[in-house]
Amino acid sequence: MSSATPDPGTAGSPNTPDPTTPLGGPQVEEASPSAGGVIGDPTVADTSVPAVRRDTLGEGDNILQVRDLRKEFPITKGLLFKRQVDAVRAVDGVSFDVRRGETFGLVGESGCGKSTTARMICRLLDPTSGQIDFDGTDIAGLSRKQLVPFRRDVQMVFQDPYSSLNPRQTIGSIIGAPLDIHGLAKGDGERKRKVQELMDLVGLNPEHYNRLPHEFSGGQRQRIGIARAIALSPKLLIADEPVSALDVSIQAQILNLLRRLQRDLGLSLLFIAHDLSVVRYMCDRMAVMYAGEIVELATSEELYANPSHPYTRALLDAVPTPDPDARARRLAERGTAAV
Ligand SMILES: Nc1ncnc2c1ncn2[C@@H]1O[C@H](COP(=O)(O)OP(=O)(O)O)[C@@H](O)[C@H]1O
Ligand SMILES: [Mg+2]
Repeated sequence: MSSATPDPGTAGSPNTPDPTTPLGGPQVEEASPSAGGVIGDPTVADTSVPAVRRDTLGEGDNILQVRDLRKEFPITKGLLFKRQVDAVRAVDGVSFDVRRGETFGLVGESGCGKSTTARMICRLLDPTSGQIDFDGTDIAGLSRKQLVPFRRDVQMVFQDPYSSLNPRQTIGSIIGAPLDIHGLAKGDGERKRKVQELMDLVGLNPEHYNRLPHEFSGGQRQRIGIARAIALSPKLLIADEPVSALDVSIQAQILNLLRRLQRDLGLSLLFIAHDLSVVRYMCDRMAVMYAGEIVELATSEELYANPSHPYTRALLDAVPTPDPDARARRLAERGTAAV
């Protein structure tokens, strides 16, 4: 598939994670207490409630405007003569904006189309239809060649910090690769200095420049992925479940790092998660995705105070609270049975 194609600017690697893999794997189930059965409950799939608040679209200074974005994956039959029998509608008419300098959240259960959306925005995948306006240019239909200048401006942090790093490359060459490709470091000395500055910025010891990925912990490896993604000072950073594969104890450190970088570097951040509590902590506004569609879009405050879509309410009810009585009260108020 196209995400495996070597891609100079985007923080991809030969081993970018497979989007068809269920999110997180076994570790995530442990790491995310909110991934309870409620989220997958078919009784909440009442999409008849029109919950996308359209007034939250199209205002302000947008770095990204996504309109009616769709991706269908063909389902084929036959070994030799493949014929298409059907299509998976992974993303089914998604529209949202990311304002300059904000953190916008995209949240929804595993398989709802978050990664496919992210991959289309950074053009690792070709959209079936729709518009992706990035900083004033519709990039949805651009060719590989036309995309070159844009590659630098949109970078991605992947879910699995191990499989997205080449195990045989030193940290120095992983973080330095985007600088080399875009000719941004003259000579080894300057390259090393720049890479070490980046390592310091993300909380890695610059002396570990020559180490290999396996010598680092999961959290440190995600820091490497983040350093690589910000090496080119992108205008938009897409973080696709950046903490889902990490132990709970280090998730907060990585979230804090992303928050700090977003603030200090003035990044626009598209933050993807399946866990509402994580998104709430990170985001100004957010969209809730369900089965390829956005079912609710609002500011984080609004969405928490007054969730209008049943699926959002189910996601909220699955968020653990330290005070069990408060949770019981909340469920009682909504008339939902405690689980
Ligand atoms: N390359 C692909 N070929 C076929 N189906 C795919 C492919 N990538 C993703 N899908 C399907 O698209 C849907 C959305 O997947 P994905 O975007 O990875 O969801 P999420 O990131 O929200 O977990 C899933 O049903 C998934 O199986
Ligand atoms: Mg995903």
